[in-house]
Amino acid sequence: MSGRKAKATSPIRVEVPETFDRYDYYRRSVQSAEVDVLFMRDTYRELKGKDPTVLREDFCGTFAISCEWVKLSPRFRAYGIDVDSEPILYGLTHYVEKLPKPARDRVKVQQADVLNPGLPKADIVAAMNFSHYVFKDRSMMKSYFHNCHSTLNQGGILLVDCFGGPLCQKSNVEETDHKSHVYIWEQESFDPVSNEAVYHIHFKVKDASGRWKRHNRAFTYDWRMWSIPELREMMRETGFRKTHVFWEGTTRNGEGDGVFTRVERGEECEAWVAYVVGEK
Ligand SMILES: C[S@@+](CC[C@H](N)C(=O)[O-])C[C@H]1O[C@@H](n2cnc3c(N)ncnc32)[C@H](O)[C@@H]1O
Repeated sequence: MSGRKAKATSPIRVEVPETFDRYDYYRRSVQSAEVDVLFMRDTYRELKGKDPTVLREDFCGTFAISCEWVKLSPRFRAYGIDVDSEPILYGLTHYVEKLPKPARDRVKVQQADVLNPGLPKADIVAAMNFSHYVFKDRSMMKSYFHNCHSTLNQGGILLVDCFGGPLCQKSNVEETDHKSHVYIWEQESFDPVSNEAVYHIHFKVKDASGRWKRHNRAFTYDWRMWSIPELREMMRETGFRKTHVFWEGTTRNGEGDGVFTRVERGEECEAWVAYVVGEK
């Protein structure tokens, strides 16, 4: 052992890594689960003249919608289906935990492919945030619609959202300032031959010292851009009796107003969002 005195060391600095919760920023930027569930319930009421009970949220991710659904009525139950365990775990620890106990028992989630046979039966099957655009050819999309048709209760509805317009066929970047963070939607590419497009979501977030930090590619989507008539045709071909389109209204300054009504014709616009609904 050396007789030298140990040198005084400076206090150890523990660097706590800043955690970036991409699902939280996603929810605050693009999701409106509280509003979506009202639209689903009211659409079923409008078409069927009665209340639904069971919602199946396909491609559910963190199943925020299922958690909002069961808050609407003590009779309402929800099933979430997703292949990925990561968002499911997030939903279990962040959303289900916060539900009152009786509502918690009415949400079930399964890690499964939406193409699997034997998925839970439902009055409404919903595919939100354009998740079904992951199916890039007619045979895959029709397999999915067929599976929805066979697992819907009699008179049930399939509800999918969709978007389009000339702006969605160009590379571009759009930033939305949410004060605490900036949401960035990037369209990387669009191929007019295949109608395939690649999109990314990035975020800029203020750190503890007030500096902006960019989080690139928090989410990436590789999709086929389907048109409304194509989706309706495939629903009809897989057994849906009727299909409907719900189109968004516009505010005075030409922005979408978040109110969707059943239409026979749409309007020309640079970018639009709509719902296509199939009735079993
Ligand atoms: C665009 S995110 C949408 C999440 C959620 N629906 C929302 O509104 O935010 C798409 C989700 O679909 C899931 N997914 C992709 N292919 C799937 C499949 N074949 N079966 C089940 N889930 C799938 C992904 O894991 C991902 O969580």
